[in-house]
Amino acid sequence: MTSPGHGTVRPPLWLLAELTYRCPLHCAFCSNPVDYARHDEELDTASWRRVLAEARALGAVQLGFSGGEPLLRDDLEELVAHARGLGFYTNLITSGVGLTSARARALKAAGLDHIQLSFQDSTRELNDFLSSTRTFELKSKVAGIIKAEGYPMVLNCVMHRFNLQHVGRIIEMAERMGADFLELANTQYYGWAWLNRAALMPTAEELRDAEAIVQTHRARLASRMKVIWVSPDYADAKPKPCMAGWGTVFMVVAPDGVAMPCHSARMLPGPALPNLQAMSVREAWHDSEAFNRYRGQAWMDPTCSGCDERDHDFGGCRCQAFLVTGDAAATDPVCPKSAHRGRIDDMLDAAAAARADGASTHTLRFVPGARRGAGLVF
Ligand code: FES
Repeated sequence: MTSPGHGTVRPPLWLLAELTYRCPLHCAFCSNPVDYARHDEELDTASWRRVLAEARALGAVQLGFSGGEPLLRDDLEELVAHARGLGFYTNLITSGVGLTSARARALKAAGLDHIQLSFQDSTRELNDFLSSTRTFELKSKVAGIIKAEGYPMVLNCVMHRFNLQHVGRIIEMAERMGADFLELANTQYYGWAWLNRAALMPTAEELRDAEAIVQTHRARLASRMKVIWVSPDYADAKPKPCMAGWGTVFMVVAPDGVAMPCHSARMLPGPALPNLQAMSVREAWHDSEAFNRYRGQAWMDPTCSGCDERDHDFGGCRCQAFLVTGDAAATDPVCPKSAHRGRIDDMLDAAAAARADGASTHTLRFVPGARRGAGLVF
């Protein structure tokens, strides 16, 4: 299948269905749009069933049910059963709030393959502070439910200045809980995390120390639990192959039906994003201006189009380029060849200065309505 002027386009193998932006948690690094309250519309069950069927017919094989908190949707079991019937491999990405034994069994019966459970830290104090909820005990219980129901379990923890020092304890917690995989995902600075970057960003030294601890545990754990360390591109000074290339394998469908090449594309300037209430998944993927905008290499500036890495990093991240430089088509600013690399170095210098001054959570900004306690000082 070809798209206008862009050669062969493969199907979207990975579909992420963001069923709702509603969430009981209010994390300081939430990936919801910062103005998510403006997008409160949600596709109904029939629309989601159609979207899933169209995506599967186009060639999608992996399906993530995400949010917000997808368990807030009463039709989750129906959508899982529908997806399973279509032949998807299904994954639930959850905070754990709402996952009772009964619901875990019902989802299993519907055909759910896999659950990814988020933690914010290995301590109740920090987990509950960063999520603005008292959920640490509940999440621990939910991990037990997931294992008892026989699911493969991924624990996910977003890493940043406040919990990197606990990385060894986070690994030991995941081991105790019987996780099959632990994803230690260093914060990506979009959405709420971008707003809070000055408070969240660790120093290069803190990252190095944490990674060394991860390596020690990896050697000890061997094949018992796979530990995935998602290294931050800004510290590595190496653009990440974001989404494996724009419009290449990944489609996100937002709660209101907006189809996007990545989670953050809603904030980019340029052509309107396609809405699946008004068009098919096939049209959105192949024909929409938004999906074709940064597909392939024709959009690249000379720094990227003349670089030997272009077939490996696909030009890096368009959202990061926009947030840091104001131009979504610019060379990813984490790249040493970018004229704007100095802005990333300034952010790292600011992180080091903040650490020297004694980092605290007092400056964190949370989504409206979050219940706040006293700040924490580290
Ligand atoms: Fe949007 Fe990287 S997050 S392109």
